[in-house]
Amino acid sequence: MRRRGRLVAACVLSVTACRGRDAGVVQKNAASSVRPTPPAPERFVSIGRAATAAEIRAWDIDVNPSGEGLPPGRGTYDAGTTLFAKRCAVCHGAKGEGLGPYPKLIGGPTDAFNFASDAKIPKTIGNYWPYATTLYDYIRRAMPLTAPGSLTPDEIYSVAAFLLAENGIVGKTMVIDARTLPRVQMPARAHFVVDDRKGGPGFR
Ligand code: HEC
Repeated sequence: MRRRGRLVAACVLSVTACRGRDAGVVQKNAASSVRPTPPAPERFVSIGRAATAAEIRAWDIDVNPSGEGLPPGRGTYDAGTTLFAKRCAVCHGAKGEGLGPYPKLIGGPTDAFNFASDAKIPKTIGNYWPYATTLYDYIRRAMPLTAPGSLTPDEIYSVAAFLLAENGIVGKTMVIDARTLPRVQMPARAHFVVDDRKGGPGFR
């Protein structure tokens, strides 16, 4: 009883501290009948294993807008034209116009950027993508849809050259590689701003 009395007195000083101490008392009493939770093991030895360096390398394939992550290799418009016809046109159309549910990759209006108010405007590489390096990153990890990861670096650079040229962004003679791709200025780049919102009361 006297102990409880001291806790109540402490409450006058700080409600929060009092709650904490009170809760502590309750737990201490309950602990006598409930087994304490054992500390977490340092490793769950029976689940999984450490990934090998080769496995991590195989997953570590992202390419960022600065070009970091782009591998050696080079691609040309001519090689890209052949490859696109063979591996991509069945879904995206011979001219990248998009067949059925498959997206259009070439064209699309470049004079307006009001996608938010008109969802029907087709978003394409030419009118929506802010960074050319995304072509490498995305095609490498996701395309062709039925065999992602099957293209060589030269093939990916080549379809990127084809798609950029057909969208009127680079010339047909431009060699695309780890040095030139990040330098390509995408038409939609200026439509994006860095999101510097911090949240909280200043949220806008
Ligand atoms: C079997 C059908 C199929 C084939 C073949 C295919 N794609 Fe696709 N592609 C898709 C689908 C479906 C999407 C949309 C995926 C999504 O939105 O998640 C897509 C999306 C894309 C996009 C992103 C479009 C955007 O603006 O968001 C690019 C770029 C692309 N494909 C390139 C290629 C290239 C290059 C090839 C050939 C090497 C290829 N695709 C072969 C079905 C295909």
